[in-house]
Amino acid sequence: MSPYSREDPLLMIPGPTPLSPGVRAALAAPLRSHGSAENAASLARIRSGLRRLAGMSSADVFVLPGSGTLAMEAAVVNHVRGGERVVIVNHGYFADRFVDICAIHGLDVDDVHAQWGHRASLDEVRAVVERGAPPALVIVTHVDTSTGVRADVAGVAAVARDAGAVVLLDGVCSTGGMREDLDDLGVDLLVTAPQKALAAPPGLALVLCSPRARERRQVLRAPAAYYLDLSRWEAPMTSTAYFATHATSLIRALDASVAEIFSEGLDERFRRHHEVAELAREGFRELHFTPLTEEAALAPTLSVLAPPTGVDEARLRQDLLADGVLVAPGIGAFAGMAIRVGHMGAAGRAEVMLVLDAVRRATARQTAA
Ligand SMILES: Cc1ncc(COP(=O)(O)O)c(C=O)c1O
Repeated sequence: MSPYSREDPLLMIPGPTPLSPGVRAALAAPLRSHGSAENAASLARIRSGLRRLAGMSSADVFVLPGSGTLAMEAAVVNHVRGGERVVIVNHGYFADRFVDICAIHGLDVDDVHAQWGHRASLDEVRAVVERGAPPALVIVTHVDTSTGVRADVAGVAAVARDAGAVVLLDGVCSTGGMREDLDDLGVDLLVTAPQKALAAPPGLALVLCSPRARERRQVLRAPAAYYLDLSRWEAPMTSTAYFATHATSLIRALDASVAEIFSEGLDERFRRHHEVAELAREGFRELHFTPLTEEAALAPTLSVLAPPTGVDEARLRQDLLADGVLVAPGIGAFAGMAIRVGHMGAAGRAEVMLVLDAVRRATARQTAA
């Protein structure tokens, strides 16, 4: 008997992802005070774990109550000012979100928009970066959850650094599921969130700032924002000082998850993600699904797939849910024509096999009808 049901399905959406028993227990543990030494100790462990995971050895790490979108906006408002130029390497829906955030804050945005499912050409990125005033900031999403495109972070960062820009990476759908040696790549800012490959509950905004980004933030001084002003969060990150109430249960759960990530070991974890992604892709290929992401840009954390002819994606998702498996619909240009399947965090071979089995039954039902 499967432990999953329509009401409590296996979450194979690209976040939130399943929690391990240890992380669930941490989430259900007694509530802690935001001013407790225990909460400060959890924050210290999370901050050092995230530095190691991202390969940003000297980063300031901020853990704010909020979601990934808050991390995106915080990173922007603290490191650029209205009128400055920002180049966004756009691989889908979440880069569009950065375009909106930057526009609202009065930035001069250049949007290098790739065809859906494809990588932006580096030559085009370079041409846009080198056109006109040098950009203050270049933004790229490591894995865009709408298209499944894994960016060429090394290539984009090199172009951006040549122009003197600060480089901001969105790791919401990558951090914890793939290697991010960001000091080596020249990335200055990482925004991420716990609910995907970090395998913890949603509700925290994570921002990592390199010394170069910190310098820029200090030169610019405080942004026209209160909660989002990162300087107000510096003391609460390293002591029991109060600025705003910490999300203590979420911090406790993320602390447990980070500990599990390091007990698995980073090499082993990244290898597992790669292997599970291959298993998912091979299984879906056998069931005649087509990846909508170009081969060279496939990500280890999720797959974006068109169902075979004769299989309706909305009905497929409903049938899967009746079987206790939740997958996500396509969004943006892929709405109505794709399913998105997360295979990251605590989800491994067993979970992917369960999905493939359920998909096999559901597609057989539709094609037999
Ligand atoms: C790549 C990426 N960036 C940003 C976000 C926004 O994060 P949140 O929904 O936690 O605000 C998401 C959410 O799915 C995402 O996939």
